[in-house]
Amino acid sequence: MTLDITILVGTMTGTAQLVAQELELRMDDGETRARMRLMDDLDASAFAQAGLFLICTSTYGQGDVPDNAKALYDSLQTMRPDLARVRYGVIALGDRTYAETFCNGGRRFDRLLTELGARRIGEVLLHDASAGTMPEEVAAEWIEGWLALCRDVMDERAGV
Ligand SMILES: Cc1cc2nc3c(=O)[nH]c(=O)nc-3n(C[C@H](O)[C@H](O)[C@H](O)COP(=O)(O)O)c2cc1C
Repeated sequence: MTLDITILVGTMTGTAQLVAQELELRMDDGETRARMRLMDDLDASAFAQAGLFLICTSTYGQGDVPDNAKALYDSLQTMRPDLARVRYGVIALGDRTYAETFCNGGRRFDRLLTELGARRIGEVLLHDASAGTMPEEVAAEWIEGWLALCRDVMDERAGV
């Protein structure tokens, strides 16, 4: 069964987009179809169709989602759609220098999606920009495990 994944990107200075582009290239093979969308101008209807989503977002301000993610985040909070048919993963980019709000952008999306009934696959990937690791490399390693979990979930659903 082909996995169809939509990567939704929240970014201020392009790092999360770079990570998502790298993952899109890696994932898009015969077994997985991946499509990246910047969150700009999206609203809750982005989750209207059931499916697999990967949230890839950084953190800004006082632990906020980036500016281009605000409309989507606010729309989900206001509209409160039932996302029971949505499965998702989260890649949260942040910096431990901001100890109180480390990776809160991704954590906020995680909390909100769970509140709305969506179910997360795997653990949230937390990337620390002060650690000296390249986020696209860390994410490329993490995605293999996440895809394996996604396949398990899809197999369970299909009764394999
Ligand atoms: C002004 C500013 C505020 C930030 N605030 C936070 C924060 O509150 N928590 C956190 O974990 N990281 C914070 N960061 C770090 C960014 O989230 C991190 O560098 C990320 O990799 C940037 O990704 P982007 O280029 O996709 O926006 C901040 C960075 C800047 C420049």
